[in-house]
Amino acid sequence: MPPQLPFADGTFDAVVACLVFEHIRDVDSAIAEVARVLQPGGRFCFFLNHPLLQTPNSGWIDDQFLDPPEQYWRIGPYLIEDETIEEVEKDVFIPFIHRPLSRYVNTLAANGLLLERMEEPAPPAGFLAKAEEYLAASTIPRLLYLRTRKM
Ligand SMILES: C[S@@+](CC[C@H](N)C(=O)[O-])C[C@H]1O[C@@H](n2cnc3c(N)ncnc32)[C@H](O)[C@@H]1O
Repeated sequence: MPPQLPFADGTFDAVVACLVFEHIRDVDSAIAEVARVLQPGGRFCFFLNHPLLQTPNSGWIDDQFLDPPEQYWRIGPYLIEDETIEEVEKDVFIPFIHRPLSRYVNTLAANGLLLERMEEPAPPAGFLAKAEEYLAASTIPRLLYLRTRKM
């Protein structure tokens, strides 16, 4: 049986998950647990690396071989679920799992978590100031926020 959160059904009026579901292999069980511990009408505030724009091998390309040079955001293989292992600090390895957005939205819906708000925030000014290429790519959102409500 998949691990359960140590809380009774319907304990919370809100659950927040920020940049963690990308590291969880069993997404179905984890979302089912969020739904289980929420009260009816409770909210799930769900932050993800934007699944469409943060695909494997995605990123800002500055192609100086073209004449004139071209800059664009490359999107990798979006529809394929893909796991890579990231070294987040020395000798600490965790999985990073790319899934299409529909995989998340449909799993939320299957657990009675219906979408009521979606945000794709632009990178903040402080982040953009760090490097010129960030400014060039500032119309590409890195984050996705979904707010769902339990039926
Ligand atoms: C990118 S950090 C986000 C941390 C924090 N939520 C924030 O927004 O600053 C990813 C977090 O996911 C946690 N994590 C990784 N794999 C996990 C798993 N299988 N189950 C629960 N948490 C996990 C890590 O410990 C880390 O704290």
